[in-house]
Amino acid sequence: MNQKLDPAVKPRDDKEKIFSAIQPTSGLHLGNYVGALKNWVAEQKRYSCTFGIVDLHAITVPQDPKELKANVYKALAYYIAAGLDTEHCTLFLQSQVPQHTELTWVLNCFTYFGELGRMTQFKDKSKRQESVSVGLYDYPVLMAADILLHDTNLVPVGDDQKQHVELTRDLAERVNRRFGNDVFVIPQPAIKTTGARIMDLQDPAIKMSKSATNPSGVLFFDDSDKQLTKKINSAVTDSQTSVNPDNISPGIRNLAEIYASLSDISPQAVLEHFTGKMYGVVKKEVGELVTAILRPLRNEANRLLSDQSSLDLVLKNGADKAQQVAEATMKRVRESVGFLPRSK
Ligand code: TYM
Repeated sequence: MNQKLDPAVKPRDDKEKIFSAIQPTSGLHLGNYVGALKNWVAEQKRYSCTFGIVDLHAITVPQDPKELKANVYKALAYYIAAGLDTEHCTLFLQSQVPQHTELTWVLNCFTYFGELGRMTQFKDKSKRQESVSVGLYDYPVLMAADILLHDTNLVPVGDDQKQHVELTRDLAERVNRRFGNDVFVIPQPAIKTTGARIMDLQDPAIKMSKSATNPSGVLFFDDSDKQLTKKINSAVTDSQTSVNPDNISPGIRNLAEIYASLSDISPQAVLEHFTGKMYGVVKKEVGELVTAILRPLRNEANRLLSDQSSLDLVLKNGADKAQQVAEATMKRVRESVGFLPRSK
C-alpha cells in the first residue's frame, strides 16, 4: 500500500520518522531530484527525517575509490544545496555507522533466496555486470537494514524502490512474528503520484538512470545549462509536430511529467497548457524550467565543495546522531536473537 505525503495528514505528536537515501555513484540526476530529494526537502520540518548517502550500496558494483570519495562529498553538497538543513534532519554516510552492516547480516538469516532472486532491480542490474557479486544480490537486505534501524514509518522513494520497501516490510513482520514482539517498526513506501518515474529522454520506455548507456538521455545535476538544454531539445518525441491530447507519445508525456513535477502543477493541467503547442516550444519551456532549478543547485553545491572540512563536520555530527538510533535498534535485535552482551 502506498502512502502519499498528503499535507492533510498530520504526523503524530512524536513526529513520524522518515528515512531515505541515494547512492553516491557517478552523477545524481533529475529522477533522483523529483523522485526523492525534492520531496525530502518538502517534508523535513513535518517529520523526523534521516537521509543517508549509501556508499555500501554503491560498492555492489565496481567503484574507483577516489571517485567514490569525491561522489560522497558531491552527494552531500547537493543534499544541502537542494535545501536539506541539518537543523531539521540528520544527514549521514552509511559506512560510518557500522550497525547497518551488522543488521544486514542478521536480516540475511531471515531472508529467502527466492525473494532476492525476484527483485526486478537485481535482474536488471545483474544483466549489465560481467560478474555479479553476492553484494549486488544482497543489496535489498542492506536497504531493509537502513530502513529498519531507524524505526522508519515512511520511506519517500521513486517507483523503482517500491519492491525493496515491500521486502523490508515482509522482513520486519517476519522477525517480529518470530520473536513475538515489536523489534521493528513496519515502514510504508511514500511514493508521489507525479515524478515517481522520470523516463530517459532518448528512450522513454526506460527510466532515467545513472547507469544509462547513453548519457544524452539523462539530465545530470552536474550538466551545464547548455548541456541540459541540448539534451532536452534532442529528446525523442514522435512524428507529430504539436501536442495533441488525444495522441500523446511517451516522450511528450515524459516532458510533461518533468514539467509537472518541477512546477507542482498536475500533469493534466500541464498537458492542457501544452495542448496545440509546437514540440519545439514545449522543449523550450521544459528546458527553461529545468535549468532554472538545477543552475542554483549546481552553483551552491560547487560553493559548498570548496569547504571540505565543513562537509566532514556535517558527516561527523550526522553519524553520531544516526548511530544513537541505530544502536538502540541493534540492542533490541541482539537481545531478541539471543546474542550475549559484551561484559563491561
Ligand atoms: P538510487 O540511488 O538508485 O536512487 C535514489 C532515489 O531516486 C529515485 N529515482 C527516481 N525517481 C524518479 N524517476 C527516476 N528515473 C528515478 N531514478 C531514481 C529512487 O527511487 C530513489 O528514491 N537502493 C536505493 C538507495 C537506498 C535507499 C535506502 C532508499 C539505500 N537504502 C533506504 C530508501 C531507503 C537506490 O539505489 O536508490
